Amino acid sequence: MIIGVPKEIKNNENRVAIIPEKAAMLSEQNHNILIESNAGTGSGYSDKDYVNSGCTIISNVEEIYKNAELITKVKEPLKSEYKYLNKKSILFTFLHLAANKNLLMNLLKSEMTSIAYEAVTKNGKTFPLLKPMSEIAGKLAPQIAANFLQKQYGGPGLLIGGTSNIKPLNISIIGAGIVGYNAAIISNGMGANVTVFDIDNNKLLNIKNYDKKIKTQFSSKGNLAKYLPSSHIIINGVYIPGSKTPKVIDESIQKLIKKDTLIIDVAIDQGGGVANLNSTSHDKPIVKLNNFYGYAVPNIPSIVPKTASQALNGTTHKYIELIANNGFESCLINNIEILNAVNTYKGKLTSKPVSKSLNLNYYSLDKIII
Ligand SMILES: NC(=O)c1ccc[n+]([C@@H]2O[C@H](COP(=O)([O-])OP(=O)(O)OC[C@H]3O[C@@H](n4cnc5c(N)ncnc54)[C@H](O)[C@@H]3O)[C@@H](O)[C@H]2O)c1
Repeated sequence: MIIGVPKEIKNNENRVAIIPEKAAMLSEQNHNILIESNAGTGSGYSDKDYVNSGCTIISNVEEIYKNAELITKVKEPLKSEYKYLNKKSILFTFLHLAANKNLLMNLLKSEMTSIAYEAVTKNGKTFPLLKPMSEIAGKLAPQIAANFLQKQYGGPGLLIGGTSNIKPLNISIIGAGIVGYNAAIISNGMGANVTVFDIDNNKLLNIKNYDKKIKTQFSSKGNLAKYLPSSHIIINGVYIPGSKTPKVIDESIQKLIKKDTLIIDVAIDQGGGVANLNSTSHDKPIVKLNNFYGYAVPNIPSIVPKTASQALNGTTHKYIELIANNGFESCLINNIEILNAVNTYKGKLTSKPVSKSLNLNYYSLDKIII
């Protein structure tokens, strides 16, 4: 199969969809990889590394979209890339369409078939391609907060762990999934007073089992209104698979939050859980909103691109290989994980949660391909 790897163009996006080690494994199986020149540079991989892995370097990205049967990316195509969407190739990348109607309409118009990394599920329960990025974003969130709180970065000059005579800071984490769990263990390790909220008691139990010192609460509006006002840092990692993030920090809760609190909305890629807080970028990650600060970068792992590219491609490789070795149509019939992750198919919206979030017609892929 001809596999295309465009260079990522989102702000400060340094990840690459296929690393040389995995490219070599695909080349050995006679697949032909077309990679855009310098696509791997941000992650520490040169064009020469890719040539040595059997890839062909292409300087004009349009050629990649025109010739590749499978396009692998990290982030969703941006507006300037919409012109390359086409019905001949399959797109495999993070899409987060529930929060991006414009991209969805362009995928439907171009009739491009797309598979969303975040929708690939194992046993219908876990998200193997989202997981490594969520682990990274969860682990980075307290680290980012710690930096921001320092005076030289414009913060209020506070130390998360406190001292022997000064209390540590309060960190509240909403969502006890992969982002929340990782943010909790790092915050706890930094010495913070950590409280985690979720609607799933098993997820809360999981965190308690890590360290009983971490406090847990059922995530209700009442409990958030009770506990968030004393937080110095709030990290949001709420996710309802495929859907737009619910606004767990709505305007009424925002009024209770104390001055200078930093809210890190990791779930911004799915629309975000903080009312009136829009996406920010690594160039200007933090904005002031009323009396608090908001951080809403949708590609947090790109600040550790080498780790992130290796971790991402470490999990995507299996699926790229499956599609390349068996052909996409055969994977639809024989692989439920791929079938369930198809968001658009030949001009039709095939994701139920996306259709619900955007109030658009849904087509069951099962019925279309029979
Ligand atoms: N910004 C970034 O760079 C970045 C990176 C990785 C992941 N993410 C995003 O972070 C989000 C979380 O990802 P994840 O892998 O941790 O998901 P996950 O499914 O592992 O966890 C989500 C958790 O949210 C909980 N939840 C649902 N509704 C809730 C509510 N009302 N209150 C409290 N908890 C609630 C669920 O029970 C679950 O435990 C996703 O939107 C994901 O796309 C963003």
